[in-house]
Amino acid sequence: MRIAVVGGGSTYTPELVDGIARLREELPVTELALIDPDPARLELVAGVSRRMLAHAGHPARVLATSSVAEGAEGARAVLFQLRVGGQAARDVDETLPLRCGCVGQETTGAGGLAKALRTVPVVLEIASAVRSIAPEAWIVDFTNPVGIVTRALLDAGHRAIGLCNVAIGFQRRFAALLGADPARISLGHAGLNHLTWERAVHLDGQDVLPALLRDHAPELAESLGLRPELLRRLGVVPSYYLRYFYAHDAVVREQRTKPSRAAEVAAMEGRLLELYADPSVVTKPDLLSQRGGAFYSEAAVALIASLLGDRGDTQVVNVRNGGTLPFLGEEAVIEVPAAVTASGAVPLPVPPLEPLYAGLIAHVSAYESLALEAALHGGADRVRDALLAHPLIGQDESAEELTGLLLEANRAHLPWA
Ligand code: G6P
Ligand code: MN
Repeated sequence: MRIAVVGGGSTYTPELVDGIARLREELPVTELALIDPDPARLELVAGVSRRMLAHAGHPARVLATSSVAEGAEGARAVLFQLRVGGQAARDVDETLPLRCGCVGQETTGAGGLAKALRTVPVVLEIASAVRSIAPEAWIVDFTNPVGIVTRALLDAGHRAIGLCNVAIGFQRRFAALLGADPARISLGHAGLNHLTWERAVHLDGQDVLPALLRDHAPELAESLGLRPELLRRLGVVPSYYLRYFYAHDAVVREQRTKPSRAAEVAAMEGRLLELYADPSVVTKPDLLSQRGGAFYSEAAVALIASLLGDRGDTQVVNVRNGGTLPFLGEEAVIEVPAAVTASGAVPLPVPPLEPLYAGLIAHVSAYESLALEAALHGGADRVRDALLAHPLIGQDESAEELTGLLLEANRAHLPWA
């Protein structure tokens, strides 16, 4: 079975290769096609991927190519993990909004909008190329902003599912706190990509979230950058992306004194590429665990295994809302547990969301629709509308100023700007 990876030259790829090697019973991959426009990076990443598979005694062959058609041919699933403009464009996303006193983040707020503008057209073009050569292949999108990109793919009629590692990260974290196997834990996870709350944690079907919060609120809150009182009072565990909302001003103050995450990651990537060039490196480097995408490989392997193997198990993914969250349009994309079979992912019912969460979800979902309009059709007014609609921007003057700054800085990636 061939699996293809668009953005295969990413320093994240060995994370995925590690998952493919470890989970070979679940997903018998025989060919891994790495597709990337950067030949130097691709060679290094393909090299370490081959060594890792050989070292694990895994039979899969690694194909490296710059051609989407060549890589996707015969693929059963194609993973999208690309970053238009690389860490340099991300750095702008993370620093420019600070000038208006708004959070600088690659998927939240103005930075997330800039990323959507750069990314949606590129992803749609690649998806068309994939479909023309492998019409049955599933597209698994890890490319951010996952909610908007998945919506764009689905609206264009692709067989696509969006994936993020936040939920699997929580599942593993709760499992460790409870001393239980992660397979025994399922989450009451609800919201939009990078805007979710864990409202229940089921261990063998029993909700143990109240006990988890009673015993572990301080350590959980600390790792999320939130106050334990908030978690206890709400009785939920917000994802760490909610810090950009619940502690917005504190985050802005902090970001003004620190190097951007993009700068940190760029330095890490330099070291990772050196390791990948070293023939003695035959396993996933520890350094990779400092990246945000931990457990991404396991989530991706599990999702593809369920899609291709018609397993019907429950996984947290980004899918069309349908009627799941009744206060959103049916066509919205949400992130919830879903039953995954060969015909796709069907969201499971979500207990009614309290206004505290529903309000923010509806607000950000409306922003996402406007962001997608701007990404598809361009135009400064559409960009301004999306910024005005975002709960973390929302002011006319900031929206105006950020529109100018963001279009200017991203001109090279926006043919219409
Ligand atoms: C988390 C998110 C991903 C995001 C990543 C950033 O894993 O779920 O969507 O891409 O963090 O990680 P990085 O190491 O690049 O900051
Ligand atoms: Mn994510």
